[in-house]
This record gives sequence, structure tokens and C-alpha cells, in this order.
Amino acid sequence: MTAADWKAEESRWLLPGYPQFPFVLERGEGAYVWDTDGRRYLDLYAGHAVVLLGHCPPAVVAALREQAGKLLFYSTLACLPGRARAAKALVELCGAEGSRVFFCNSGAEANENAMRIARRATGRAAILATEGSFHGRTAGALAATGIPRYRQGVQGLGTDVSFVPFGDLAAAEAAIGPETAGFLLEPVQGLAGGRPPGPGYLEGLARLCRKAGAMLIFDEVQTGLGRLGAPSAAQAFGVQPDLQTFAKGLGSGVPCAATLAGPRAAAALRPGDLGSTFGGGPLACAAIEATLGELSRLRLWENAARLERRIRETFRMPGVLSVQGKGLLLGLVLDRPAKPVQQALVGRSILTGTAEDPRVLRLLPPLIIGDAEAETLRAALADILRESLAPLGGRTS
Ligand SMILES: Cc1ncc(COP(=O)(O)O)c(C=O)c1O
Repeated sequence: MTAADWKAEESRWLLPGYPQFPFVLERGEGAYVWDTDGRRYLDLYAGHAVVLLGHCPPAVVAALREQAGKLLFYSTLACLPGRARAAKALVELCGAEGSRVFFCNSGAEANENAMRIARRATGRAAILATEGSFHGRTAGALAATGIPRYRQGVQGLGTDVSFVPFGDLAAAEAAIGPETAGFLLEPVQGLAGGRPPGPGYLEGLARLCRKAGAMLIFDEVQTGLGRLGAPSAAQAFGVQPDLQTFAKGLGSGVPCAATLAGPRAAAALRPGDLGSTFGGGPLACAAIEATLGELSRLRLWENAARLERRIRETFRMPGVLSVQGKGLLLGLVLDRPAKPVQQALVGRSILTGTAEDPRVLRLLPPLIIGDAEAETLRAALADILRESLAPLGGRTS
């Protein structure tokens, strides 16, 4: 079958999802993926900010193979050594001594559970969230998503969430009160285009939440696990929230997520308060343990910090107004719409992302990339931006 045949087959059987790249994907290795025609692409989008160690990291593949031959699944009704090891690895990597983990299956679910824990621990209902945020597509996570178009036309999301502008501490101070259960935010807003929080903002939120008895919740689904130049965003900014959520890169692509509850939040929970059939299953935990082990062994967050510096230095070029974000969650703010530039990059076999801000080209590469990959992008981008008056060519979707 040709690529066009497979695309027709997908749209015949599947409900529509995201707009897709123009190719059909077959395999991946490291920072590269190959399509069904054998063409290789440099993946600076990491399969949707997921493959922190690159595609098919050998240590994770080996751990999965071994686990699949032993036990594919049992729920949390049974104690599993691998589950305890995975939770310990996450707590230790995050430097969150005294925290406890609840494993689930997706970022949205991890955020739902964090809000649930905050509400249970405080006995309050109100959640504050920030404009421009994205927290997932389940009802509760969507209710807290601050990009209105995602909520449009969706009824019944609940009413206990209010929004404040991201980065505005005075607005947060005015909104946080004795009825606030939790303040949920992405420490760097991902879909918004790598929007950083501004100096003192996260520290200020922690102080305000503490004073009001509310819980600070960091959605680290996109920022977490090395991407910001430290194992967690909390460490990158030196601010410890009450709750943190992780998904995407946690299992190198095996669906899994985690809500990390600090001592105050964890103390409020009783057996039976939280549950998930698949959360914390043996395959997911094998993937988590192997992923976090490799991340620590290679100290990939240091590579993310180093490459951020390099990209900030070398991407000064006509057409790039600024570089925003942190570590390897970067938004290149262009002087023109980013979508055609992203499509032209696909034409040159380089995958990047766009953002809610139409001028932002979003970089979310695997944390294993080096100078050579950054240079490949820089050179291609410089060409494309220089040729901006010529039709933007390449294979576009
Ligand atoms: C910051 C953030 N939170 C939550 C989610 C939702 O995660 P999932 O798609 O695994 O439910 C995403 C997904 O893109 C995200 O970027």
C-alpha cells in the first residue's frame, strides 16, 4: 500500500485527531524516524514531547521485552516489586523526599488526580488555573485548560475553575483565597509556545498558596524529567509544589503517568481514594524504571541546559525575533507565521512543532540530541527564512 492508501485507511476507520505530518511512519531510532518510503527525518518534536531518550532506547526496549515475558499485567491489587522501584526512582530523581506516587495512564488523568487530591486535602472545591495553559482533554483537565478554543462546544465541564493571567502575581494574589483548593499551572507553558514564568512568579505562588492553605500543583507533563535543564521543573526553578504531575516522557512512549504528592497532600489520602485499573501496571513500571535509570545515568538534563545555551547563541538570525522557554522546551518567536516554516522544515526532513501563538516554532527534541542536530536545524531554518519570499516548498500537509 502507498502512503496515500494508508492515510485513506486511517481516516476510514478512525475518528479525526490531530492534523498529521504528510508521511506514514514506520520506525524510529535515537533522534530519527523513518517513513514507509525509507526517508529519514530528524525528530525535534520527540513524537509529541515524549521520547526523552530518543526513539526505542535499547535499555527500555530490553526491560520491556524481559517484563513482557514474565508478567504482562496485574493491577494494584497485587504488590509488584517493579512498581515500588519505579516510584522510588521518580521520587529520588525529583529530589522529593517524603513524597508518594500515584501511577495512572495519561497526563490528563495525572492532572485530574492532582486536583482531586488538592480538593480532598483542603476540603475545598475551587481550582485556579492560568490563561494559555493546556492540561488535557478529560472533563476536569479540560475545565482547567486556559485556551478557550479547547473548551468551546464542550458542555458539562464543571464550574469550580477560574483563570488568572499567567505570570501575573498580583492577579494570583487577588484570586487566591480561603476557598482555593489548588493553583494548577505549567511552570513553563508548553502549548502556548514555551512561555516562561518570569522572575519570582513561581516562588510568589508558593508563598501565596502556603498562606491561604491552598495546594500548588505543577503540571510537569511537558516540562518534566530533564527537559528544563534539571530533573523536574520544580528543581529547575527551586520551588517545591505540593503536587507534581508527569506523563509524556515518563515511560519513553509506553502509556503511563504519575501524580507525585508531597507530605501534606499525601497525608490526606486513604486507601480507595484513588484507583486505576492500568495505572502502575508491570509493563509501564518496567518502562518507567528503565527510562528514569537512563536519564539519571546520562544526566540528560545537563545536555538540555547546554543545548539551550547553544541554541540561544547560534539561532540569532534574520527572521527569528527571540528564543523563549527553558532547556529543550523552546519557542523560536518568528517574524512571520510559523506553520509554513514548520512545513518547509518537514520538506527538509526535520520535524518541529508549532504552538498556540502562531508565530512560534516549538522545539521539543529528545534530550539526547547534540550540537550536530542543533546545527542541522539552524542551517535549514536560516535557508528557509532567507528564502521567505520564494514559495515555501517541500512536502507539506
Ligand atoms: C502540559 C500538558 N499537560 C497535560 C497534557 C495532557 O496529557 P495527555 O495527552 O497524556 O492526557 C499535555 C499534553 O500535551 C500537556 O502538554
